[in-house]
Amino acid sequence: MTKLWGGRFQKSAEQWVDEFGASIEFDQKLVMEDIDGSIAHVQMLGDCNILSTDDVDIILGGLVQLKQLAVEHKLEFSIANEDIHLNLEKMLIDLIGPVGGKLHTGRSRNDQIATDMHLYLKNRVEEIIELIQVFQKTIVNQAEDHIETLAPGYTHLQRAQPISFAHHLMAYFWMLERDKERFLDSMKRIDISPLGSGALAGTTFPIDRKLSADYLGFSNVYANSMDAVSDRDFIVEFLSNSSLLMTHLSRFAEEIILWSSSEFNFIELDDSFSTGSSIMPQKKNPDMAELIRGKTGRVFGNLMGLLTTLKGLPLAYNKDMQEDKEGMFDTVETIVGSLKIFEGMIRTMIVHTKRLHDTVHKDFSNATELADYLAAKGLPFREAHEVTGKLVFLCIQRGYFLLDLPLNDLQEANSLIEEDIYEVLSPLAAVRRRNSLGGTGFNQVEIQIEEAKKRLI
Ligand code: ARG
Repeated sequence: MTKLWGGRFQKSAEQWVDEFGASIEFDQKLVMEDIDGSIAHVQMLGDCNILSTDDVDIILGGLVQLKQLAVEHKLEFSIANEDIHLNLEKMLIDLIGPVGGKLHTGRSRNDQIATDMHLYLKNRVEEIIELIQVFQKTIVNQAEDHIETLAPGYTHLQRAQPISFAHHLMAYFWMLERDKERFLDSMKRIDISPLGSGALAGTTFPIDRKLSADYLGFSNVYANSMDAVSDRDFIVEFLSNSSLLMTHLSRFAEEIILWSSSEFNFIELDDSFSTGSSIMPQKKNPDMAELIRGKTGRVFGNLMGLLTTLKGLPLAYNKDMQEDKEGMFDTVETIVGSLKIFEGMIRTMIVHTKRLHDTVHKDFSNATELADYLAAKGLPFREAHEVTGKLVFLCIQRGYFLLDLPLNDLQEANSLIEEDIYEVLSPLAAVRRRNSLGGTGFNQVEIQIEEAKKRLI
């Protein structure tokens, strides 16, 4: 079979060589973007009187037919035609005859592929931003149900201070909020058209790049044709934003996994988001959370892969850049899937409020209250810390918690302690008093949730 670029060649490559160079196996995902790019290009060629109205009409008719066939999954791609651009061009020529060969006037596959990638990411990033928001709403809903649910807060995975469970959940809301902002900001650099940059240097035809950009819904055009065809920053940025998003999802997944273990038993995942064991009948595994934690690795890998691919490339286009696609597609599917699954998992999880309540009453996470109490009465905090530490030690020896200590033991340790200490040591009061801006006090959590709702557009 002759190649569309075969004129200069005396012999053709063997099939296995073609297979190595072809990208059609994966870039066929860009079929709609590629056809839309062609439609915009040929319309512009007509508007600028570069092609006759008759030619434009015939070509447009062919492209519309191809689009319909694509919707119906009736296009048959061939490795012999290398990539999505050459496959479609060949199909167009087969469909409408040699006039189809005029479509490629004033453009190159280099600006074409860059255009396809921009179009593709623009749509998918919009979808991802929407999915982040859906997940954020679910987090807010769960948080609203648990403002007064007491839970142990941790540092070093050791019980630290009692908190509102909603406060813990909302921490993830804000991580996702930053992710959303990063994706939104990246739109400025995705929403820009390389079309009309040609192979690298622009074209001799009197094209109107702003017009084809308009047809495609792009807000802007690249100012430099060489930059336009060789820029993959917007994909690196997407992979980087995705990596950070996955880091957040992975941390959350890790907590879900811990919380659903019998050791913690803070939550129960819905059956529809859990799996059983083929050998141990009692088991209910948090597989979905584990998978999200695991898939984080491939997203990081995709980022590292593309950075490494790009780092030594001279301007402008190089075939190395064909390697930008699979990691991007894979990342899009991975984060779309992870966001949907996580949202469902959090929406349907049962929070064991009694267990959380009991946990926080059977630990020393109220020790800071005692130290603060003494400090507020004038004892230097360092001494208050020491006194409290000794009382904790006394409790451990006796198998008590601070609230179980009789007043005389407490007063023996320090005479500033009075009857009101028992109220101060209650975890509920401890949480309520942490009313500093952004703290876990119930009032603050309510304010925070109101603030969060304003961010949901
Ligand atoms: N399949 C190529 C890619 O994905 C399209 C651009 C090819 N351009 C070229 N001059 N070989 O990068």
